[in-house]
Amino acid sequence: MARIAIVTGGTRGIGEAISLALQEMGVTVAASYAGNEERAKAFTDRTGIPAYKWDVSDFDACQEGTKRIEADLGPIDILVNNAGITRDGTLARMTYEAWKEVIDTNLGGCFNMAKAVFPGMLTRGYGRIVNVGSINGQAGQYGQVNYAAAKSGIHGFTKALAQEGAKKGVTVNAVAPGYIDTDMVAAVPAEVLAKIVAKVPVGRLGQAHEIARGVAFLCGEDAGFVTGSTLSINGGQHMY
Ligand code: CAA
Repeated sequence: MARIAIVTGGTRGIGEAISLALQEMGVTVAASYAGNEERAKAFTDRTGIPAYKWDVSDFDACQEGTKRIEADLGPIDILVNNAGITRDGTLARMTYEAWKEVIDTNLGGCFNMAKAVFPGMLTRGYGRIVNVGSINGQAGQYGQVNYAAAKSGIHGFTKALAQEGAKKGVTVNAVAPGYIDTDMVAAVPAEVLAKIVAKVPVGRLGQAHEIARGVAFLCGEDAGFVTGSTLSINGGQHMY
């Protein structure tokens, strides 16, 4: 029987590529999205993958959203915590709201979604969780104390939860993307981005499907001995 996956933020950008890569592997995929109805509808029309709307920073909404998907498709075997936002700015300019929104969404979202699916995975003796971290969680980045802290937290969260799942067939891993050609990176001022790309040994932005390839590997049936690891996919920008 086909495995069932939730990809948060799965209708756009890296999340969309992950949804498609899992679908290609024969997985039954559900994508969550937070706000962009138009893109979510276009995604579903194009791919046949259902999209469910909720805010991953909301604990109760994650419980309810997961229950809706389980009622429609069945128990969740695979969770990809991909949903994330940026609210960049130097510490001096960063508001408390910008700090909290990013921590609650990017890191809180991983906790909220793991709470919704991890117990069932343990009971059934199988699961794959992949958390999308970032090069900026590994190396830090000017103007991103909120984002870097959240993404760095994801890497710790991954290694801790991996230990809880290991004996029960549930693997927990992370990917750490570098700068990928998505709406999020397009929001970085052009002159700042040009300087960043100039330091990437591969000499270009990554493509969303290049991240999805790594996620799909970690979600595979045959990846059961890989747990607690971080796969860096960043064009050589940070060799960690
Ligand atoms: N190191 C040291 N100093 C830096 C610096 C750096 N990396 N970047 C900028 N500065 C300095 C500038 O030289 C400038 O100094 P002076 O005032 O002395 O000239 C000062 O900091 C202010 O720089 P800005 O004009 O850029 O300041 P700003 O307030 O207009 O913007 C910022 C600040 C919003 C952080 C902007 O620099 C920015 O957007 N940076 C990019 C942040 C980034 O990489 N975000 C990634 C988003 S994509 C993502 O996160 C996906 C992923 O996982 C990779």
